[in-house]
Amino acid sequence: MKGVVLAGGTGSRLFPLTKVTNKHLLPVGRYPMIYHPIMRLKRVGCTEIAIVTSPEHMGDVVNLLGSGFRFGVDFTYRVQDQSGGIAQAMGLCENFTGSDSFIVMLGDNILADDFPIDVTEFMSGSTTIAGKAHVLLKQVPDPERYGVPRLLDDTIVEVIEKPTHPPSNYSVIGVYLFDPKVYDIIRTLEPSDRGELEISDVISHYAQTKTLSHGVVRGWWGDAGTLEGYQEANSLAKDLVYEEIPVSE
Ligand code: DAU
Repeated sequence: MKGVVLAGGTGSRLFPLTKVTNKHLLPVGRYPMIYHPIMRLKRVGCTEIAIVTSPEHMGDVVNLLGSGFRFGVDFTYRVQDQSGGIAQAMGLCENFTGSDSFIVMLGDNILADDFPIDVTEFMSGSTTIAGKAHVLLKQVPDPERYGVPRLLDDTIVEVIEKPTHPPSNYSVIGVYLFDPKVYDIIRTLEPSDRGELEISDVISHYAQTKTLSHGVVRGWWGDAGTLEGYQEANSLAKDLVYEEIPVSE
């Protein structure tokens, strides 16, 4: 199964920590931030993982991660020339994922547990979580910081990016499962007011065509992209250990 980790963007909300380095190389607990999404993807069975990052930091990212041999996976690298948004970064992986469904993880999302989804079920397109896209929600005290779902009878009808008046107290977290049609949707997107192709618009498209399913995360989840979130992720992840990675690595 194929996975994608998005590690582009400018990291401007963490300046000056990210003035000369990529946000995803900063420490979170015992590991560089990007190790966390990589290990979560590996644990649900992704053995081929594409890493998307900016040209400025590609060298450091490759220096850190290498071929993937040490992680027991194969890495493919994609350069995102400008920070044109999460959906744009995903669009760079079309040749990599081909005709397969795949999982995307945002490089600054930290989870205490493996995903609470049956990936095999999603991939086979059958049974309970059958859908063309699947997202995970987490109840949060500050939904206005995230993509927020509007729910009707436990069905997502729309996702609004950082709404002033959130329609629910859930965040759509940075773990997404998509079928290959996602690339056709990305091609139809227009940049938002902040000049980005928004992942929320992609998810809303699936919601409108009733091909979206979702699950809810029970354990802790953090978005380390702001100073507050970064500090919280560090405290929550301080004892998190991936046994598969030798201490010397
Ligand atoms: O953490 C969950 C939230 O992540 C979602 O609820 C939102 O819907 C989603 O838009 C996103 O919001 P953020 O404001 O936190 O996104 P951010 O710009 O921090 O980007 C998240 C990750 O995506 C980050 O680790 C780097 C990567 N990225 C981002 C941009 C803008 C790219 O690879 N390329 C990009 O152009």
